[in-house]
Amino acid sequence: MSAAIVRLSVCVSLDGRVATSVDAPPNQEKFGGWTSEDDKRVFKANVAWADLLVMGSKTLAQSPILAKMGKQIVVISRGSPAMPSMKWRRVVVRPDRASLTGWLKAFDGKKLLLCGGVMTYGTFLQFGLVDELSVTVEPVVLNVGPSFTFQGLVNVEAEPQKFELLRLDRLNERQTVHMHYRRV
Ligand SMILES: NC(=O)c1ccc[n+]([C@@H]2O[C@H](COP(=O)([O-])OP(=O)(O)OC[C@H]3O[C@@H](n4cnc5c(N)ncnc54)[C@H](OP(=O)(O)O)[C@@H]3O)[C@@H](O)[C@H]2O)c1
Repeated sequence: MSAAIVRLSVCVSLDGRVATSVDAPPNQEKFGGWTSEDDKRVFKANVAWADLLVMGSKTLAQSPILAKMGKQIVVISRGSPAMPSMKWRRVVVRPDRASLTGWLKAFDGKKLLLCGGVMTYGTFLQFGLVDELSVTVEPVVLNVGPSFTFQGLVNVEAEPQKFELLRLDRLNERQTVHMHYRRV
């Protein structure tokens, strides 16, 4: 059977940033929303494609609705004390290379959607575990907020990871763009 396919789904600003948290700027609700309904549609389509949704413990804690989308949830966590209260989690995987690669082997042939956040995106990219990128770019410069790949990780892969563009769509009148890439 073929290997698992890991697709990273993210919405970024023109300067490649995402919101840090629901409390900090650029908070999507407080600032009137920098992401579009069209990006939400892209995310829903990615969820429909996936067999499993993979996310960091913080993203799941902040967006518990992700656990109600009818898909198996996989939480990336070191097993912090907060985790036992997350009754809706099904699987917990530690964020180190051996744990992640070993776990992925058990999902041969499955489609995994990486839902964030930045630490989790960065962890999978650092270990070269992302096969596809689904990136929506909103036409706004945020100036604050982290890079979507998170800069604080160590042992980052030295080799650049190359991707080819499979599809490019303009989503709306304000020219929100969606790009779908595959690792080469
Ligand atoms: N724009 C978008 O498309 C998008 C999508 C999703 C999220 N986001 C944003 O991202 C924010 C959350 O990102 P985040 O990076 O703070 O949280 P996160 O990646 O959701 O979760 C971080 C947690 O995951 C575990 N983890 C994952 N990789 C790790 C590593 N290499 N080392 C140690 N622990 C690791 C740890 O869990 P334990 O502490 O349990 O060990 C860590 O506390 C949200 O507030 C949201 O705004 C944006």
